[in-house]
Amino acid sequence: MYSSSYSDDEEELEQYELIRKLDHGRFSVVYEGRHRTTQQLVAIKQIRYGSPATFQREVSALRQLGKTPHVIQLLDSVSTTDYSYLIFEKLDSNLEQILSKSTMLSLSWIKSCVQRILMALKHCHAKKILHRDVKPNNIMFCQSTQELYLIDFGQARALAEKGSANADADMTTQVMNRNYRPPELLMGEKRYNGSIDIWALGCLFSDLLLKQDENATAAPLFSGKTDIDQLAQISALIGCPDEKTNWPGVALLPNFIPIQLLEDQERRSLQDVFPQLDSSGMDLLRQMLTLDPKQRITASKALKHSFFTTEPLPCQENAPSFSSFTRAAKKRKAQIHSPENTTATGTPLPSAPSTTSDKPKGRRIQF
Ligand SMILES: Nc1ncnc2c1ncn2[C@@H]1O[C@H](COP(=O)(O)OP(=O)(O)O)[C@@H](O)[C@H]1O
Ligand SMILES: [Mg+2]
Repeated sequence: MYSSSYSDDEEELEQYELIRKLDHGRFSVVYEGRHRTTQQLVAIKQIRYGSPATFQREVSALRQLGKTPHVIQLLDSVSTTDYSYLIFEKLDSNLEQILSKSTMLSLSWIKSCVQRILMALKHCHAKKILHRDVKPNNIMFCQSTQELYLIDFGQARALAEKGSANADADMTTQVMNRNYRPPELLMGEKRYNGSIDIWALGCLFSDLLLKQDENATAAPLFSGKTDIDQLAQISALIGCPDEKTNWPGVALLPNFIPIQLLEDQERRSLQDVFPQLDSSGMDLLRQMLTLDPKQRITASKALKHSFFTTEPLPCQENAPSFSSFTRAAKKRKAQIHSPENTTATGTPLPSAPSTTSDKPKGRRIQF
């Protein structure tokens, strides 16, 4: 573990060997590297175009959070003339990659996953940090420690303390992937709180539940092509935002539009989408996907929900494990169960993300 430094020295990067490109995000390219002295494997996130806002937001949120359960830990940060770099422990696969595989998720696995993200959010919100980008590819697993982490604090921000000069400052609504964006942001609310992350987690919880079906393809619960379309999809499933029945004050939001579903428009309920979900699971999902952010459940209340204490209990291993596989995955099972691919507890975990541009080991870092 290295002390966190904030250097303006390209030589700082020379401490790391570049191994390969792992993935890229909206603002970054992420490489696998190795610390030359300690040999520790790391992920080196290069922030594109030297985007200072994203870099500063991520560094500042992660420093404020320090060592927090289920939140990725920042090992080091380096700024050069052209780019900014964040150094993290190297993790293995993100939830989007897991969802895209032909795996069938068990309820116990799903509970464990949602519970851990809730723990991460509880700590973030207690420290007044909003993540603002909860979605499957920002959740990662580490195979060796069998842990799950919330990553990517590039959109995070700290809430101003009550009574401080900035307490009433407006915040941007242009955050979060639209599929995971809550209705208040879609309608232009500029003074929001941690409840935006809970809505996103409710959507992610749904993505996981949909993968309990053997034939399911990974698809988000709401996938509007525009903000209005997104609101219409939410309304068709959860209900139309309305002053009197479900959301006092909604009509005051800057972009409020009364939504009326057409007579022949397909109306479904969460129960129709998830008929297999028991009453405690349905209750938690409904409380996360509550239209009015003031009535939406908080992370700490959600953690006390009976969903996590009723059978099947969340996986007891340190990390969720797959308990069942689809036919396609079964073909790979023998390979997965080979000794080198099996964890200490004997639990097969998803393999590391595929790479797009492998580079020879031990090259001097050159981005
Ligand atoms: N510590 C890590 N170890 C391995 N892969 C990582 C790590 N951090 C990020 N990645 C991969 O890189 C992708 C982009 O990283 P992320 O921090 O989300 O950047 P962005 O802000 O550009 O979205 C992630 O979705 C993940 O697949
Ligand atoms: Mg990301």
